[in-house]
Amino acid sequence: SAAEKGAYPYYMLKEIDEQPAVMRKLIEHYVAHDGSVKIDTQILQSLQQADRIYIVAAGTSYHAGLVGKELFEKIAQIPTEVHLASEFGYNPPLLSKKPFFILLSQSGETADSRQVLTQINAHHYPSLTITNVENSTLSREATYTLLLYAGPEIAVASTKAYTAQIAVEALVAKALGELRGFTTARNFAVAKELTTVANGMQALVDGKKKIEKIAAEILKTTRNAFYIGRAIDYDIVQEAALKLKEVSYIQTEGFASGELKHGTIALIEEGTPVVAVITDANTAKHTRSNAQEVIARGARVIYIASHSLAAVGDQIILPDVHPLLTPLVAIVPCQLLAYYASLQRGYDVDKPRNLAKSVTVE
Ligand code: G6P
Repeated sequence: SAAEKGAYPYYMLKEIDEQPAVMRKLIEHYVAHDGSVKIDTQILQSLQQADRIYIVAAGTSYHAGLVGKELFEKIAQIPTEVHLASEFGYNPPLLSKKPFFILLSQSGETADSRQVLTQINAHHYPSLTITNVENSTLSREATYTLLLYAGPEIAVASTKAYTAQIAVEALVAKALGELRGFTTARNFAVAKELTTVANGMQALVDGKKKIEKIAAEILKTTRNAFYIGRAIDYDIVQEAALKLKEVSYIQTEGFASGELKHGTIALIEEGTPVVAVITDANTAKHTRSNAQEVIARGARVIYIASHSLAAVGDQIILPDVHPLLTPLVAIVPCQLLAYYASLQRGYDVDKPRNLAKSVTVE
C-alpha cells in the first residue's frame, strides 16, 4: 500500500521522492483538459465575496501559508494574512469586513487550528480546510474542503504535504484571480508551471548523492546553522530551518538575510554553516552581499540558487520554474540536507525526539 516503505530505509526519503508524482496527481485532480482549474464553484464564489484571506496553520503548514500569501496577493490580488493558529486563537487580529479563512493542515487534526475554527464558526465566517486527510476534524468542521492527494505522510517531519499545500494554493489563486478578472491570473498557466516543477523536483531528487556529500561536509558536527534569504526565499528558509532542526537537533534559524546585521550576525563564528537560498531575482544580489558579510566573519556559505540567478561556484543549482513556485523546488535539497544530517548524526529521522506527527492537544 501507499503507506509502506518498500525499498526505502525511511519514510522521510520515500516521501521526499514522491513529490514529483504528487504534483502530477494534483494537476490530474484539479486541472481540466482545457487548462481551467476544477474547484467547486461554491468555494470560488464564497472566496470572491471576501475582501481578505486569513490563512491559519501550525508548523510546516504555516510555512506553506507564507507562500500562499505570495500566491494569493500576486496572482489573485487579494490581501492575505498568515497567522499561527496558537497565536490567533488568543490574540486575534482586527478582521476585515468580509474575511475568508483558510485552514492549512496536513492531518486536519491539529488542536491549535481546531480551536481557531471553532471561533470562526461561532461568527459564521466562511472557511476552507486544505488537508491531506479526508473526513478529518478540520475538514468536517469547515465550510469547505480541498484535498492534497499526497498519499499518507508517515514521517513526523512534513515534506510532501508542504509542497502539495503550496500547489493547491497556486491552483486556488489561479481560479480566484480569473474570477476576479485579473490578467495576472489568466496568464498563470498553472498546469504547465506545475509540470515544470515536477520535472525540476525529479532532477533534484535524482541528484541526492551530491546533497548527502554537502551535508557530511557542513552539518555532521556543527552545533548551529543558518538559512538566509529574502522575499519568497525568506519563506523558503523558514521551512528549511524547521526541517533541519526537527530531525538533526542542530540549532537552526531561517533569517531574512538583510536583517542579520541587526543582531543575529553576532552568532557567526569561524566555520558556522550558512545556507543562502537565491530564487528571487529582485533580491538575489542583496542576499549575495549579505552572504559576503557572513563569509567575512568566518561563515561557511553554501549557495542554493536558481539556474538563471546562479554564479560560478554555487553548490546547488535549482531548475528554473515560475518565480512564485520556486519554494516547490528549492525546498527539495533543503529536505535532503535535513534527512542526511539526521542520519549522519545517528538519529531515527522518521521519529525525532519530543515531536508528534499530529498534535491534538493545545
Ligand atoms: C506537528 C508536526 C508538524 C506539523 C504540525 C502541523 O507539530 O510535527 O510536522 O507541521 O504539527 O500539523 P498539521 O497536520 O496541522 O499540518
